[in-house]
Amino acid sequence: MDSSEATATVALLYRAVLGREADPAGLRHHTEELASGRCGVPQLLQRFLDSAEARERRRLWRPNLTGFPAFPEAEVFVAPDVADALFAKTATYWRQTAARPEEIYWSVLTEKNWNRALTPDDRKAFLRTGEPYANRVLAAFQDLTGRPLPAVRCLDFGCGVGRLAVHFAARTAGVCAVDFSEAHLAELRENARLFGGADKVSTWLLRLPRDLDAVPACDLVYSFVALQHNTPPVMARMLRGLLDHVRPGGLAFLHLTLAKAGYEGFTVREYLADPQAGTRMEVHILPRANVDEVARRAGCEVVRSACVGGNDYAYSEEFVFRRVAGGRDAEAG
Ligand SMILES: C[S@@+](CC[C@H](N)C(=O)[O-])C[C@H]1O[C@@H](n2cnc3c(N)ncnc32)[C@H](O)[C@@H]1O
Repeated sequence: MDSSEATATVALLYRAVLGREADPAGLRHHTEELASGRCGVPQLLQRFLDSAEARERRRLWRPNLTGFPAFPEAEVFVAPDVADALFAKTATYWRQTAARPEEIYWSVLTEKNWNRALTPDDRKAFLRTGEPYANRVLAAFQDLTGRPLPAVRCLDFGCGVGRLAVHFAARTAGVCAVDFSEAHLAELRENARLFGGADKVSTWLLRLPRDLDAVPACDLVYSFVALQHNTPPVMARMLRGLLDHVRPGGLAFLHLTLAKAGYEGFTVREYLADPQAGTRMEVHILPRANVDEVARRAGCEVVRSACVGGNDYAYSEEFVFRRVAGGRDAEAG
């Protein structure tokens, strides 16, 4: 192979395998190998495929698949005191930094427009962003159950400042709004007054995961962009708790992030020992097979699930669950 053909071949290998232009040193080295005959095209291709850079690229691409491998059960189903410690650590960001007036709305919708303290008119505009979600979920609930909405009691998990709850409250019997940040719940109460319908919203502060047990069971349990901010064991714990809150004949609409680039597992000890963990907004995942196992333990089945969010680095779905056996007293998880 002459030198210009070798150069063109190496440049193509860089683009095809590594997705980038060749660096000068690499281009020179591999071109010489090819042009001298010390290495043929198949061997050079194999070297590219085996390189650390190509392996890292493949690792980061893999999570876009919905078949992200399950985490071992020991990493997902942990003792209650361990779940309590993880829960408290993750809550740090939400109870402190996200509680600030200039961050509280942005913590709910991470768009630049909301990265400031809001006026009453801004708040109304912010609350309107939750209406399409409420309309979609309520229409699906009616389709699947045929039940009249004015009699339906709702549980909003990770309710934030009430962006969704105010719309559900307006069309149903009422909403139990659950959050682990008192600042978000206080803002929600203010927003419910501003929006109208405060009498149909009750707020429930979770100091620990087990505080969820005090919240009444409901016909429609929903959660959007909230579970993903918890570590996998807490996600599993809260998911189980939410499924246990679905009244007979009711449904749970739960948004879950199933895959994320580079997220290969979770280690309780490392998370608890890391001084940075919990101090920023985090996005964790619970792979589909683990979700299915939690549902099985709760005596629930997936009615349907569909992608609601996907980008280069994370993939999430909205699951609709219904109970097929037992209730809060079903087989212990
Ligand atoms: C991104 S905001 C979403 C709020 C709301 N679901 C919405 O779409 O407007 C996430 C909310 O979930 C709450 N949250 C996250 N993990 C929670 C947990 N384990 N228990 C209770 N609340 C939680 C946070 O405090 C925050 O208010």
